[in-house]
Amino acid sequence: MASASTSPRTLRKAVLPVAGFGTRVLPATKAIPKELLPVFDRPAIQYVVDEALAAGIEHIVFVTGRNKGAIEDYFDRSYELEVTLQAKNKAEQLAEIGLSVPVAGSMSFVRQQAALGLGHAVWCARDIIGDEPFAVMLPDMLMMAKPSCLAQMVDAYNKVGGNIIAVEPTDTPERYGVITPESRDGRLIKMKGMVEKPKREEAPSNLFISGRYILQPEIFALLESQRPGAGNEIQLTDSMARLMNVQKFHALEYEGTTYDCGDKVGYMRASAAYALASEHGDDVAAVMRDLLANRGK
Ligand code: UTP
Repeated sequence: MASASTSPRTLRKAVLPVAGFGTRVLPATKAIPKELLPVFDRPAIQYVVDEALAAGIEHIVFVTGRNKGAIEDYFDRSYELEVTLQAKNKAEQLAEIGLSVPVAGSMSFVRQQAALGLGHAVWCARDIIGDEPFAVMLPDMLMMAKPSCLAQMVDAYNKVGGNIIAVEPTDTPERYGVITPESRDGRLIKMKGMVEKPKREEAPSNLFISGRYILQPEIFALLESQRPGAGNEIQLTDSMARLMNVQKFHALEYEGTTYDCGDKVGYMRASAAYALASEHGDDVAAVMRDLLANRGK
């Protein structure tokens, strides 16, 4: 495997764009941010923050919008609740609510005033990221993997540098952004392009871009001048395609499974998978078997 001539700059920061409306999961998202809907026993966003921390990320930038204030509250202390749990000697629950409280100063929140697209959301984080590489993690994509998906990407990044995106094989490339591979070394694929939602018979590969990116800060200047693309939104993919002309881009076929929580069935699938993988897995499997056996009765 080719190694970078100088060692790549350390990855310390991650951007989590959470300013979208979550229209595919209405009415649940009318008053609750999509990212706080529970996937089994915790908000979806907790899995993504845990994944970031497990990969050595030190600072998380949330790009939020109106009606997303509850996300900020979730990552703060809750004194009233703590005092109540203490008074009732509920040590286990006390420990559980403490898990979501980050190191002071390790999270920033910036507003995207209008949902102009994922590319625009990432651009809103430019001043907090500054001139260093950073990760983008889409919080409606959950990656069940060990080591975590981002940790696998950091490992690859430390070897080859540049820009890295996580990919996974799919039977439905027409639903996603798909990469055009140039050459392959194990799970690491040198890229020469990407296409958004190709026709199935024209897809350049079956590897879809699954929602984790390591990007160099030069992307911000490109995002600034990026014209709206598909869906009349400022697309991250369009600026990445331009960055690919001047910088290295690799895709990593990471080891693990992506759960797309963007729509209702996807949410249910993720919730079921995480429940089955939890310490309650056997009980959950029994409940599911029972539900299926009695379906429609
Ligand atoms: P999605 O399009 O999947 O999320 O964007 P959405 O807009 O919330 O969902 P629907 O389509 O209305 O159901 C992927 C991610 O990018 C964020 C979203 O919050 C989501 O996490 N995003 C998207 C922004 O932060 N700002 C935008 O302008 C667009």
